[in-house]
Amino acid sequence: MTKKHAYITTAIPYVNGVPHIGHALDYLLADVWARYRRQLGRVVRFQTGVDEHGNKIAAKAAEQGVTPQAYVDSMYGNFQTMIHALNVDTTDFIRTTDIKHKAAVQYIWLQLEKAGLLYKDTYEGWYCQGCESFITDKEAAENNGICPDHQTPYQRLSEENYYFKASAFTVPITQALESGKMKIVPDFRRKEFLELIKDGLQDVSVSRPAKNLAWGVPVPNDPSQVMYVWLDALSNYLTVLGYPNDPLGQDFWPADVQVVGKDILRFHAGIWPAMLLGLDLPLPKVLLVHGHITSGGVKMAKSLGNGVDPMEILRDYGIDAFRYYFLRYIPTQDDGDFTWERFEAAYNGELGNDLGNLVQRVIAMTLKYQAGVVGDLPPNRHDMGPYREAMESFEFNRAIDEVWVMVRSLNQYIDRVKPWEVAKNRETDTDAEAHLAEILSTSAGALLQIAELLAPFLPETSRKIKTAFSSSVVPNDFQPLFPKIYLHTEDQRASKSAELPSK
Ligand code: MSP
Repeated sequence: MTKKHAYITTAIPYVNGVPHIGHALDYLLADVWARYRRQLGRVVRFQTGVDEHGNKIAAKAAEQGVTPQAYVDSMYGNFQTMIHALNVDTTDFIRTTDIKHKAAVQYIWLQLEKAGLLYKDTYEGWYCQGCESFITDKEAAENNGICPDHQTPYQRLSEENYYFKASAFTVPITQALESGKMKIVPDFRRKEFLELIKDGLQDVSVSRPAKNLAWGVPVPNDPSQVMYVWLDALSNYLTVLGYPNDPLGQDFWPADVQVVGKDILRFHAGIWPAMLLGLDLPLPKVLLVHGHITSGGVKMAKSLGNGVDPMEILRDYGIDAFRYYFLRYIPTQDDGDFTWERFEAAYNGELGNDLGNLVQRVIAMTLKYQAGVVGDLPPNRHDMGPYREAMESFEFNRAIDEVWVMVRSLNQYIDRVKPWEVAKNRETDTDAEAHLAEILSTSAGALLQIAELLAPFLPETSRKIKTAFSSSVVPNDFQPLFPKIYLHTEDQRASKSAELPSK
């Protein structure tokens, strides 16, 4: 029997700035799912990459006095560095300036043209360069002519473009969304999108005159036109797989899960499925839509100066601390907030005290009372249902909550059975030795279980715990997990003990 395949994708960020936490969230959510799928035995292909075309990038390059190509060549490495720094285990990284990608996008264009889905028309309307998006009159009026995300006025365009007949696919796309053949998670976003297209999908402009947009994939057989950046960018999900030439890729399409932010759902739920149907390809199974990260309640944005550098967090607290916070405190399907104080409190309290001390305690007692010998591990009795259910419904934060229920109950168990008291009785009570062994092996077994469930979220921590407990003797040089750090909050223990009368 052949192994089942799974293809997982992330949105490809524009390279007009350094990577930020929003991009990190895309990568992390996809990584959790990829690791989870691998744990369940799937062969995974996991795409990441960067979006390098379009006016926004050309403008940035011009600002810096370099060619767009030189500019993107200098930028994409920052994204690879961040992916690596986050321990995101990808199989593919695409740049939309790759020659193979560009050739495949031109092939896609020709296929759509052959199917009679492209026509020329005049576009008279609004454009937001920040979003790289054509804006309807209604939307422009609602926003008083200014993009709410970028705080810049919309441009007025009057130009001849090629249009893609997305409207031809209103019925099959609506049906796919209604029947769950293509799922949007969370469901309220599916409903929102269905409401948006209730009067039908609109045809979309998919090219711009070369004189207005020179930085993009040329339209085949028409040098006066360059492809719209979104047509080029969305195609990446197929070109990564070697479409149209590589038969290997066929095992991976349709995608298992495509991770996108809420701001770009409409491209992924409208134009993207229309392109796929135009190419006679199946639709992705799931679009997982995450929210936005705010800082102290305000949307994180470079222009507001409240952005947080992911590399600073990684440097000060480490990879798994970063992953923990953004996967638990930013609810998978909604907006969430970051503050340094909250981050550090979660780090010291949950990772340091709840988990780190627990592991340290069990190792120390195993060394002290049993010369490090772990003993026979009992079968796991914890109900895995709620964890699995949270994972399968893409509520990763809730899955971590479930692991923490186990962490806390193991701490409570140890506090209740007091192995140190049992150890004292060994001289006089013949059952105490066996009881102690049972407590410690139960604890080791539970920690191994916790490590297994944490693997998609905190891969390094999981590996360390597994290594410590899966050989017959625990190590006597185990480095504490998550040692305390107080860079943004006070050491509560120090200030509390200062308040207490000395004994
Ligand atoms: N280039 C397009 C995507 C093309 S996909 C075929 C684009 N790039 S982007 O850089 O603007 O955004 C990339 C991803 O980062 C999107 O999923 C977006 O939602 C996410 N985020 C950008 N800022 C964000 C936050 N503040 N919070 C969370 N994610 C957000 O759109």
